[in-house]
Amino acid sequence: MDNILINVHSILRWAVLLFGLYAVTKSASGLLSKQSYSPSDNLSATLFVASVHLQILIGLLLYIARGWGNKLGKMTEIMGDSSLRFWTVEHIFGMLIAAILIQVGRTKSKKANHDAKKHRFSLVFFTLGLLLIIAMIPWPFRGEISRSLWP
Ligand code: HEM
Repeated sequence: MDNILINVHSILRWAVLLFGLYAVTKSASGLLSKQSYSPSDNLSATLFVASVHLQILIGLLLYIARGWGNKLGKMTEIMGDSSLRFWTVEHIFGMLIAAILIQVGRTKSKKANHDAKKHRFSLVFFTLGLLLIIAMIPWPFRGEISRSLWP
């Protein structure tokens, strides 16, 4: 079971990154060229938020299935081991904060009463969330926490 989850989690990272890049680009061009907030802007934001939510859900299941949460009692051991610390604390909390930023941006953008504000909220919060996601991915160059680019 956890094999399926890790493969889906690994592949879905690319959907999150592509939808994130698409939503950020659309909000930047919408803001700079003073365009109205169109249905395609709404779609790009929805795809980004939905892919992040799904990735978080699969991540939480993986976290439980792989027993990372059981190690939380041993905080001194965790904090002294960079790999253990990354998987037990940094990856999960970094990604959760990114998801919160993205959700806040989406809510503020939806509630804004001017199109420029809608684009600006999306641009600022989606960019911050996306950068945090990129920083928390275990890329192949990241030493002992590294994972491959594809399952
Ligand atoms: C947008 C959010 C996220 C992205 C882009 C992401 C990305 C990744 C990637 C690329 C891997 C490596 C997959 C591989 O081995 O090929 C991974 C592993 C993992 N992620 Fe995430 N992740 C996200 C959120 C989360 C969250 C919120 C959790 C926990 C609640 C989580 C838990 C895990 C676990 C447990 C592993 C496997 C670690 C192991 O090897 O045992 N992820 N993640």
